[in-house]
Amino acid sequence: MMKYSIKDRNIILGVSGGIAAYKSVEILRLLIQAGASVRVIMTQSAQWFVGPLTFEALSGQPVFKDMFTEDHEASIRHIDWAQAADGVIIAPATANTIGKLAHGIADDPLSTFMLAVSAPVLVCPSMNNQMYASKAVQRNLDTLRSDGYFVLEPGSGELACGTTGPGRLPEPNIIVDRFTSCLAPNDLAGKKFVVTAGPTIEPIDPVRFISNPSSGKMGYAVARAAAQRGANVILITGPTHLPDPTNVTTIRVRTADEMAEAVFQQYEQADVVVKAAAVSDYRPQESAVHKTKKGKSEWALSLKQNQDILKALGRQKVHQVLVGFAAETRDLEQNATQKLTEKNVDMIVGNLVGSAASGFESDTNTVTFFYTDGTHESLPSMEKQAVAHILLDRIIEKVLPVATD
Ligand code: PMT
Repeated sequence: MMKYSIKDRNIILGVSGGIAAYKSVEILRLLIQAGASVRVIMTQSAQWFVGPLTFEALSGQPVFKDMFTEDHEASIRHIDWAQAADGVIIAPATANTIGKLAHGIADDPLSTFMLAVSAPVLVCPSMNNQMYASKAVQRNLDTLRSDGYFVLEPGSGELACGTTGPGRLPEPNIIVDRFTSCLAPNDLAGKKFVVTAGPTIEPIDPVRFISNPSSGKMGYAVARAAAQRGANVILITGPTHLPDPTNVTTIRVRTADEMAEAVFQQYEQADVVVKAAAVSDYRPQESAVHKTKKGKSEWALSLKQNQDILKALGRQKVHQVLVGFAAETRDLEQNATQKLTEKNVDMIVGNLVGSAASGFESDTNTVTFFYTDGTHESLPSMEKQAVAHILLDRIIEKVLPVATD
């Protein structure tokens, strides 16, 4: 499904010290099988789990495991290898290695190399489920994401320590597939993308509002992916807990009206607008200046419709490519195709919401793309970042050429 190939690419496989290090041998084998040239960097603890000789024999290259040796070539290896790298996989990534990367600590070959490399990096955490859930590890992973690293969520199941939960290193083929999608080209250079994300909130009074559970993850993933591929990206987002993505101009708004104003300001210069935001369709007729006191046993709220931003953009469309989302709990095809025509957009991402692994808040999503020629394409469940890259592929292949004809 992914069009990015790892054949003839220089890949670095970083192995840190967890029980899952044995799976890195299989990752190496799969990468070599796919035609990549792979060099391995091991932390000292990783060498307790798997011997460097195994990696050396399979990769046909020396393993980088000591910063300071008699070998002069080895002393600048972290720079040479960083400059030549097309991509990096860190699997397994332990809590310690994740912490070092998040804080720029460079005290071993892997962490030192990581400060020098600018190629895409896929970090594959693997550890005990309680450690994985800890605030420190989650905070460090958020830092890595906002620094532009790809993070592959661990699988759930029985762990080596006897507990059950998220923390398992995913299977090697899943890691290699995911990594392949990370090696995105610079194919959106010169394009201006406007992406919307998150919910809007519509105040009832200063302490209450109407909103929805959008976390912003889907829209932020699109913004981040477009920026990774060279686009000039403006992200217009409702309130979220996510950090601003790297290399993206982020504009934070609260209400649907504020989002509309920000989007219209950017529209004329935009090449592509992707509307992943869950805009509130209604707002209270009136928003009280002071907190409404609890008194009556019932409170009927009168609502009025917000303007449909996407529909307004569709009416004013000149050269812009418009991509909408459709969040549905049923009749996905019927509802999505109706929105495609009614809102005059070039593509709709149909999104079944309501399950834990798709739609609002989850890290993964299951979507179907609907095109104006009546065709559609369903994707299997995958991380939102992977969905974002495939969405950009399709915009480039199917929508941008038509719009610029
Ligand atoms: O943020 P996450 O937690 O990652 O969740 C992702 C998501 C479920 C929010 C996202 O994938 C998604 O489906 N976004 C669209 C949600 C939505 O509002 O769908 P809709 O079918 O109600 O709206 C259709 C389209 O019109 C959307 O592109 C929406 O941005 C746009 N719209 C809707 C209403 C409105 N007043 N103005 C709009 O522009």
